[in-house]
Amino acid sequence: MIQVAVLGYGTVGSGVVEVIEKNKAEINKKSGEELNVKYILDLRDFPGDPYEDKVVHDVNMILDDPEVKIICETMGGLKPAYDFTKKALSLGKSVCTSNKELVAAHGPELIRVAHENKCNYLFEASVGGGIPIIRPLNYSLTAEKIDAITGILNGTTNYILTKMDREGADFEAVLKEAQEKGYAERNPEADVEGYDACRKIAILSSLMCCKNVKYEEIYTEGITKITATDFVYARAMGRTIKLLAQSKEVDGKLFAMVAPFMISRDNPLYMVNDVFNAVCVHGNMLGDSMYYGKGAGKLPTASAVVSDVVDCARHIGKVIMCFWDDEDVKVSDVSEARR
Ligand code: HSE
Repeated sequence: MIQVAVLGYGTVGSGVVEVIEKNKAEINKKSGEELNVKYILDLRDFPGDPYEDKVVHDVNMILDDPEVKIICETMGGLKPAYDFTKKALSLGKSVCTSNKELVAAHGPELIRVAHENKCNYLFEASVGGGIPIIRPLNYSLTAEKIDAITGILNGTTNYILTKMDREGADFEAVLKEAQEKGYAERNPEADVEGYDACRKIAILSSLMCCKNVKYEEIYTEGITKITATDFVYARAMGRTIKLLAQSKEVDGKLFAMVAPFMISRDNPLYMVNDVFNAVCVHGNMLGDSMYYGKGAGKLPTASAVVSDVVDCARHIGKVIMCFWDDEDVKVSDVSEARR
């Protein structure tokens, strides 16, 4: 039996426990061994919750337990997730995460610490929620020179833009409604200003280059200035407006940006609506491939975390290669990329 711990019992963390329980027959078969959630770390208590007896408040109970081989980090944010993750990896415990902030800021370092300690730091859920995109880039498209990635990587903004287009509504009104329905955070800045998509394209760009792309260098513009009138013009031209995250390598230079674009009906991203995400990847042999699905939400995101848990369970004591060196790549000026 492989013992697992979950750090953070919020939306994604509780989803992880649910996925492991509901799909246990499939998951245990594919892991080659039975998985058991032994601990759930959270500051809160959860009286009446079916897993309340697993809840602990001290991370050291998990770190000091040699039985725990795999940890799911679903806390989000940099602190204390960075310290907990680094300590766990240095003890040889694999960590699977949905935390794009941490992956974008410290990915190559944490991967190195993992590999030095014969364990793994996996992050499928950090980009595109439930859509497999990290694994395709890292394991499936390894014969390709990937030269361009374009995606709709944020579900909240895609939901808002879809509604603005369908209903002719203004940004503020749709944001308010999205917040009331729980689709948008009470503090929506990371989503609507494009910061969330920026971190996600930084991760994908790093895997594309096999080097480190700093998210701070990526030109980022959100959707707060988009108006109902912009959609009137877009529709008149047979177009819609989408927040795109793009990265491409041209003549050895890397260009990356996040910004709203008018896109036409023949663009495959035109039909990606509501909270769905999609990523188009261009490789020099394969040409275009596209990955589409639920980019946010409890169970889709948890499913991606658990897919990493299965991978770790199959590779206890072994390193799963990840091609992301800590050498930084310069992101070239975006005005050149627009030409
Ligand atoms: N806030 C993110 C989104 C959640 O709306 O896409 C998934 O990363």
